[in-house]
Amino acid sequence: VGVSSRESNAPIGVFDSGVGGLTVLRALLSEMPGESFIYLGDTARLPYGTKSSSIVIRYALRAAELLSNEGVKSLVVACNTASSVGLEAIRQHFEPIPVIGVIEPGAQAACAASNSDRIAVIATERTVREGAYQQAIQRIKPNAEVSVRAIPLFVALAEEGLTRGPIAESVARRYLDSWSTTSDSSPDTLVLGCTHFPLLLGAIRTVTGTAMRIVDSATTVAQAVRARIAGPLLGSAATPGSVRFLATEGPERFARIGSRFLDRPVSEDKVDLVDI
Ligand code: DGL
Repeated sequence: VGVSSRESNAPIGVFDSGVGGLTVLRALLSEMPGESFIYLGDTARLPYGTKSSSIVIRYALRAAELLSNEGVKSLVVACNTASSVGLEAIRQHFEPIPVIGVIEPGAQAACAASNSDRIAVIATERTVREGAYQQAIQRIKPNAEVSVRAIPLFVALAEEGLTRGPIAESVARRYLDSWSTTSDSSPDTLVLGCTHFPLLLGAIRTVTGTAMRIVDSATTVAQAVRARIAGPLLGSAATPGSVRFLATEGPERFARIGSRFLDRPVSEDKVDLVDI
């Protein structure tokens, strides 16, 4: 089905391995209140971040296919891990549907925020190994010094709802302490390179202090999506859009934990269990 045959009131498809991408959906909803969205959390296969690239590509293609079959007019890969390995494969498979990932907008936001061009990135193991942020940042600023670190525990803490307090703070300290000194060589900007991480902002701030700029790509992604679907594909802002949720496992848990990520109530009866 070509984009031209997809209606402007068709929904935008958004997916992540779990509830993390809801931080992106939150930004999309505030950027484009007239649009309808279908959000898929592949909760049965979470985490993606510790898995091999071929497995993540396979999972991401299945998720994208399910959303494509729902007739979405655009696909947002609201997962850094899937974006870092699967974006090209998804684009090729689902052309001409516009496919937007989170890495490029995150790199742009980081380059805009940093004065010293020393940029730190925290992400999942897979995203770190793929070198996706280093490449995306250095395409914009070839001389940027990019330091990356994987914090898979943050995904577990966010999914568990343990985003504040001593446990989250001590994990943050364990991984971020060495960047928190204000020496001349320390980074001035920290990129949250995983859509689960914005929930841990408070704990991260207790370690980095307020001097370090923290970049969460959600807003930049929402602006990129809006720019891509501008024109005939943009829904009418006069009528509020709808949101549907799909999960591959545990709709009750998805609704409960997801409400925190989306910052608005997600009722369990709005979450459909799907098999992909
Ligand atoms: N939210 C995903 C990301 O942005 C990672 C979570 C996972 O490991 O599945 O990378």
